[in-house]
Amino acid sequence: MREGQRGGEAAIARRGFLRGSGLVVAGAFASGALPLASAHAARAAAGWRTPDLHLLLKARRRQVPLLAGTATRTYSYVGRVKRGDRSALQRLPGSYLGPTLRVRRGQRVRVDFLNRLSEESIVHWHGLHVPADMDGHPRHAVGTGGRYRYEFDVVNRAGTYWYHPHPHGRTGAQVYRGLAGLLLVSDDEEAALGLPAGDYDLPLVIQDRRFDADNQFVYRGGFGSPGSGGMGDGELGDEILVNGQHEPVLDVEARPYRLRLLNGSNSRIYRLAWEDGEPLTVIGTDGGLLRRPVDREFVTLAPGERVEVWVDFARWPVGSELTLVSGAFDNGMFGMGGSMADGDDEQMGQGAAMEILALRVVAASGSGSPLPARLTRFRDLDPDEAVNADDPRRFEFSFSGGAWTINGRSFQMNRVSDEEKVSLGSLELWELVNVPGTGMGPGGGGGIGPMMPHPVHLHGQQFQVVERSVDPTYDRMWRDLHAGYVDGGWKDTVLLTPGERVRLLRRFDDYAGLFLYHCHNLEHEDLGMMRNLLVS
Ligand code: C2O
Ligand code: CU
Ligand code: CU
Repeated sequence: MREGQRGGEAAIARRGFLRGSGLVVAGAFASGALPLASAHAARAAAGWRTPDLHLLLKARRRQVPLLAGTATRTYSYVGRVKRGDRSALQRLPGSYLGPTLRVRRGQRVRVDFLNRLSEESIVHWHGLHVPADMDGHPRHAVGTGGRYRYEFDVVNRAGTYWYHPHPHGRTGAQVYRGLAGLLLVSDDEEAALGLPAGDYDLPLVIQDRRFDADNQFVYRGGFGSPGSGGMGDGELGDEILVNGQHEPVLDVEARPYRLRLLNGSNSRIYRLAWEDGEPLTVIGTDGGLLRRPVDREFVTLAPGERVEVWVDFARWPVGSELTLVSGAFDNGMFGMGGSMADGDDEQMGQGAAMEILALRVVAASGSGSPLPARLTRFRDLDPDEAVNADDPRRFEFSFSGGAWTINGRSFQMNRVSDEEKVSLGSLELWELVNVPGTGMGPGGGGGIGPMMPHPVHLHGQQFQVVERSVDPTYDRMWRDLHAGYVDGGWKDTVLLTPGERVRLLRRFDDYAGLFLYHCHNLEHEDLGMMRNLLVS
């Protein structure tokens, strides 16, 4: 049956591709010839309802003036609202990033994706819990001129999510060229808190890029970064861009703000702090608000992760200039030849100190409400209720047999192993471990394999971190970064520094099918550090 389903999906994807060479967008969709897998079509037929919001989202080439001189050629998402609230889509002027999408929990959303690139692509809604065929799996990628219709209910808690491409082997390159955008979910519970809103709710997408002399992005597929041992470390830039702009200086009023920070970088990890040492007040993580605000001296933010920070800029006198910085930390590499040095400031290697954003405090035009002591309620998942409470499902992330692998395997488009099958409706205990691999040789020769940090992301439902520990042999990076983890809430991405073990609890509700889990170092992902999970 799964075999047949796959065949069906492949055929549908091809039809989508062919139809893309014509011009009839709306007509083709309205006729019911939808590029949807049969399972979803059946569900839709059973419980069809008109979407509250219908968007058109195109991936195409653009030219964006990022540096003085020649504009930078990018890939960008552009969109418009076809039906529903116009303010659901907010463009970021002067940025290569896609529009910020604002949706509410409970809404039904339809998105028609149109690929105007000269290569295949597909959109993934990072952090959203949606049916398998709405999740942007690479097997659904559409070619040039191809379309894919998404339709799903927003069931997530209010929070900061994002969208980006997910074609196999090309995710890193496409994100780097500019394909990414924020997807913000709101709900009534959050609205009742009176958190800073409108201009005072400030998303900050942090990315690093490298430019050539002609202002064009330099992308080397993760090979050739400083200290690369030749196995694909991940792409690192030497310039920071925030919200798709180079060195923006933001004026902020002397009043409370909500900052939504997304690490949208391919492989760079940040150790974020105010330069003057004031603590960061964290109110949310990947899956929405924490129960209560927590203070951190610094916050560790790995690729794909989000953190929300509440800050009252009235704490600084009007006229002050503040800098959000990323402090230096150990790059966590083992067994990678010349790459053992700590953050190399010249070349901006992993762990180099960097300035992220400059802010200028100006007079406030009004005041804001104080931060509530209690933000939200949710239940802790109970390890005793997990179906495998005594026998966690273990996933080892390592360099083995010459490749970045999960339990020794590389990505296979339609395959799952026996240890990758879970039951719909279950609660599971997982153990993710960053272990030394088997060396460069196929037989495991050449000593331990190289080690690097792996930010691990699970598609689908948000999870809770139960505990973390580290093997002291490899704990250099852990020592520099673990105090900046914020684990008290819901997450979809966790950093695994070398030797680190994370235990987490996760439910598998609502949707059966093939879902991905992978390293969100996008070059590791593209090189195969990704696998399918079958929920059935
Ligand atoms: Cu943000 Cu599968 O990724
Ligand atoms: Cu995701
Ligand atoms: Cu990795």
